[in-house]
Amino acid sequence: RGFFALTGLVGLALAGCGGANGNRGSLGFANRLRIPPVLDPRPGADGVKRFPLLMRPGQAEFLPGRPARTWGINGDYLGPTLRVRRGDKVAMAVTNLLPEASTLHWHGMRLPAAMDGGPHQLIASGGTWNPAWTVDQPAATTWYHPHPHGETSEHVYRGLAGMFIVDDEHSAELPHTYGVDDVPLIVQDKVFDEDGQLEEAFAGTFGLLGDQVLVNGTHDPFFEVTTTRVRFRILNGSNAHVFTVGFADDRRFQVIASDAGLLRAPATVDRVRISPGERFEVVVEFRPGEQVVLRGFAGDSAVEKGDYDLLKFVAAQQLAASPELPRTLAGRSPVEPGERVRKFRLGGSNINGNEMDLARIDEVVAAGAREVWELDNITYEHNFHIHEVAFRVLTVDGEEPPEHLRGPKDTVFVPGGAKVRLAVEFGPHTDPKVPYMYHCHILKHEDKGMMGQFVIVPPGTEDQTPRTLQLTG
Ligand code: C2O
Ligand code: CU
Ligand code: CU
Repeated sequence: RGFFALTGLVGLALAGCGGANGNRGSLGFANRLRIPPVLDPRPGADGVKRFPLLMRPGQAEFLPGRPARTWGINGDYLGPTLRVRRGDKVAMAVTNLLPEASTLHWHGMRLPAAMDGGPHQLIASGGTWNPAWTVDQPAATTWYHPHPHGETSEHVYRGLAGMFIVDDEHSAELPHTYGVDDVPLIVQDKVFDEDGQLEEAFAGTFGLLGDQVLVNGTHDPFFEVTTTRVRFRILNGSNAHVFTVGFADDRRFQVIASDAGLLRAPATVDRVRISPGERFEVVVEFRPGEQVVLRGFAGDSAVEKGDYDLLKFVAAQQLAASPELPRTLAGRSPVEPGERVRKFRLGGSNINGNEMDLARIDEVVAAGAREVWELDNITYEHNFHIHEVAFRVLTVDGEEPPEHLRGPKDTVFVPGGAKVRLAVEFGPHTDPKVPYMYHCHILKHEDKGMMGQFVIVPPGTEDQTPRTLQLTG
């Protein structure tokens, strides 16, 4: 059976799905949640794990009988879940069969800038890009998506994204059977036209804000629970929409990890707000035979509007007993703030008054540095992502954030008018000529220029580092 074959019930009338309240209350949960296939190759004789990835046009039947034109990676929509262990040597072969140039960025991976897949690592149509690195970071849920300057909205929206899971020696203590008790949930909002095509409705301050939500590319999904505890890796892969996720019955659940890895201990919540690019791992308990809906609850800003039923869980009559969740997790020690403070004023489509310029280096950072980055949002809602790093949210408007936001992260929601302070830790890879990015992950803002570039250089060489780049090609 194909990933997009409909299972179970008759497709519901789409007419019931729209309206001010999004999907809520009108779903039949007719489709089995698609689980992206795992790509976990055996190492070759040289010890390297090779990942062939093919970006290509496709066709996916999100709505019954109305196949949509899509883009996908090794498939019609989204890409495989890549799974590696800390210490693995990996080599990617990314082939671009799209009609235009693109890139593939490893969001959350700590690697040399030339391997990062940002806007400087364009892959021409018909070309192949071969980055390779050694995975050296704690277990985390990372992801990958294109990053061509000015085109990221379109490329991600059409379907180019996938999960990239890093395991380490502690991973076995937590639920880890993929697709059973360790389940990816890639949440993305869409607008469909009358023919069921993805409508590229990018107008407006935030760009696309959809009235339909897909999980793992599945419209109107259900998931069959077979164990008493399930770990969900939730990724907001939307262009702009911010979802505050929780259950229709308000049950509590445990957050065990944020973007860059495990927390020090599970944090109990009934809601977790997830902005584009952010990931949270949560563990949920289920009772035999029950059904419960996971919902995105509306917030009070334009990027949070509407309630959306994301997914229905259907628990089997008999559930296999899961091990207890450990009281403490193997999370790394908190990122400590350094002395150096950098300030970033977030405008509507600029940072510190500057729009993105591929030839300009905005910041020069010493390898291994710890710094404080202060975000001052002088406009409406944004978020902020930094490539390569792990950071900790110190304060939001002077207040310490809730427990589940104190762990290692790489992307943070920045409410309208808010001030956010981050303790940021930079990696060891230096390259004065190839920058990493920091940007708003509301993709329209990023595409319009709300992005800057930094290089990591050997300590002591910051002052000699050129601030302009000779762009080739
Ligand atoms: Cu998820 Cu610079 O991106
Ligand atoms: Cu990134
Ligand atoms: Cu923004």
